[in-house]
Amino acid sequence: MRSGGQIRLRRNLRRYGILAALSICLLPATIQGSSPAAPSLLLGAAWYPEQWPESRWEADLELMEQAHFNVVRIGEFAWSREEPSQGRFDLDWLERAVRAAQKHHIAVVIGTPTDAPPAWLTTDHPETLRVDATGRRAEHGSRRQFNYANTQYRQYCVEIVDRLAQRFGHDPNVIGWQIGNEFTDESFDPETRRQFQAWLQRRYSTLDVLNRAWSTSYWSQTYDRWSEIPLPSASGNPGLLLEHKHFVTDTWRDFQHVQVVAIRKHADSRQFITTNIGGLGWSDNFDHYEITRELDLASWDDYVGEGHLNVARNGFMHDFVRGWKRSNFWVMETQPGSVNWAPVNDTLDRCETRAMAWQAVGHGADAVLYWQWRSALNGQEQYHGAIVGPDGEPLPIYKEAEEAGASFEQAAATLAGTSPVAQVAILQSYDSRWAIDFQPHNRNYDQLDILLDYYRPLRDRRLTVDIVNAEAPLQQYKLVFAPSLNLISPQLGKELLAYVRQGGHLLLGPRSGMKDEHNALNIQRQPGPLADALGGRVEQYYALDAPAPVSGDFGTGSATIWAEQLSARNNGAEILMRYGKSNGWLDNQPAMITRQVGKGRITYLGALVDAAVMRNVAQWALDLARITPEFEELPASIEVCRRAGKDHNVFVLINHGSAPVTIPLPAGMKEVTGPDSGPAGIPLNPQAVAVLESAIH
Ligand code: GAL
Repeated sequence: MRSGGQIRLRRNLRRYGILAALSICLLPATIQGSSPAAPSLLLGAAWYPEQWPESRWEADLELMEQAHFNVVRIGEFAWSREEPSQGRFDLDWLERAVRAAQKHHIAVVIGTPTDAPPAWLTTDHPETLRVDATGRRAEHGSRRQFNYANTQYRQYCVEIVDRLAQRFGHDPNVIGWQIGNEFTDESFDPETRRQFQAWLQRRYSTLDVLNRAWSTSYWSQTYDRWSEIPLPSASGNPGLLLEHKHFVTDTWRDFQHVQVVAIRKHADSRQFITTNIGGLGWSDNFDHYEITRELDLASWDDYVGEGHLNVARNGFMHDFVRGWKRSNFWVMETQPGSVNWAPVNDTLDRCETRAMAWQAVGHGADAVLYWQWRSALNGQEQYHGAIVGPDGEPLPIYKEAEEAGASFEQAAATLAGTSPVAQVAILQSYDSRWAIDFQPHNRNYDQLDILLDYYRPLRDRRLTVDIVNAEAPLQQYKLVFAPSLNLISPQLGKELLAYVRQGGHLLLGPRSGMKDEHNALNIQRQPGPLADALGGRVEQYYALDAPAPVSGDFGTGSATIWAEQLSARNNGAEILMRYGKSNGWLDNQPAMITRQVGKGRITYLGALVDAAVMRNVAQWALDLARITPEFEELPASIEVCRRAGKDHNVFVLINHGSAPVTIPLPAGMKEVTGPDSGPAGIPLNPQAVAVLESAIH
């Protein structure tokens, strides 16, 4: 029988390569210098050594290693331990924690602690505390109480981050950095308002330009001095509201930037920098494309909250996150079974947490970390799911985390260097999203639901889908859906048209092209700069209080929430769908038109149609673009995700249903996890996962 040490050594040989593994085993715990590359697929947890006696760390890390964990994130709320009083830094304990993790072959991501300033800082400098929209200043005792725009606060952040980076920037066991934690709340204090005004001045140069862009002669909003411009919190001129979102984005980006600079001054280039985006990925306080631009890696916190895994929604969210940097990403936090902040904090079913981890990997995650390893004995999150209990012993979920760890380890080498590759994309833009949310016009107009309506029929065909920024390069896609691209500037219009002329198919949804880049109405009717190419336009839009029938090439069905009366004004424009008897205005009017442009095509669908019609529309577009799925004929409960490498494809199959299913192994594929099932096929119990591999010829 092999000893635990031998088994660990073998595992490391596989994980890090022979030499690195030997050096880990032979060198003393304080080794510096060459470091093992991080494994290509990581599983781990948020670990808070500062909350526990050092004598306990060893037991925690041993349990983690036994569960095949190979990464921890530490330190993101530990400022009061790292700088107990102003200018007195203590990072020795953190170094000991990093060394202890290293001993267990667990790589470390260090979080900068700037989400949770210590009490001495906010007491001595109350101006570093944020002020909410009602004018109330935050107090100590929670987190996120800082003012993101405050220059003094930034200075304190830079000092602590600089110290951390000096100490750990060359640490062989530190593989990356997380800046802050889930950037969340802006501030409405007078100094931030002054910064907003100065920011506007830099952007517009003259008030004349600003007044024109925002049409401020309306309601006497004209500004004669920059200092007159308000810092809006909820309502206001649409141009002002949009610019405030841009300012918030820029301010968070600057907040992040000073920390990136402080880290990069000292850190090895192999150490990545990220920040964990919260708000279940869909938060919109700032533009995630802009925030992640300077980062090496996008990461997000993936929680279900109440209920169970919503397969399409969560898959969409992973694809959306992957689109921020158009690259693989990390799930920096996910729930070990349950959370504490939902109305009902139910626990995911047995094996659902593992299926969720694999779903993330299938959609392009290279790491999944549970939040958290062990609950603090006190503090606001006592009820949150964890991997070990207050007694330090494994909770029931530990077993499942261990199973996930074992399967990650088995598949890591095959998944290395692979990522999802799509032929079809869905466009998204924060400007459009904000513009519609400022004035939804129908309170039921839910933009995420609408995106999912376009996404589902593609995923049901088991296609990889990219969700990308409207300004992203589109050449790689044969087909692009743009469900609610409300703002189309002349420049964006040109780019989209170039994509179409070169052979792409752009399918626009309702509300497209209504506004310009200042959130002002386009002087040309929808879709604005694309109306001429479309050969048609929106004559009028209607918020629906009752469904309107639709029929045409895609069968009969209904439109709800929103319907636009279209016209085909150019001979080349074809009508594909019409409204039936409705409000009189829509009766028998076009609901969908299409036109060939250059080597490609523009299509405009002016209504939110039911799922069956949407499926037919999507299928028509896929057929036109000659996009076919790799896996047909599988039960609906099976999700298939494909990651492509240079010479092989990896398929992650997950049974999200409640019945067991057996899947015949397709020709040319082999199983990566689990034993070879042979001709009987791959048995997939509910929540079970199979990873398959095929060579690319
Ligand atoms: C996240 C946060 C973590 C923890 C977690 C609980 O939003 O980043 O620190 O609070 O929620 O679900």
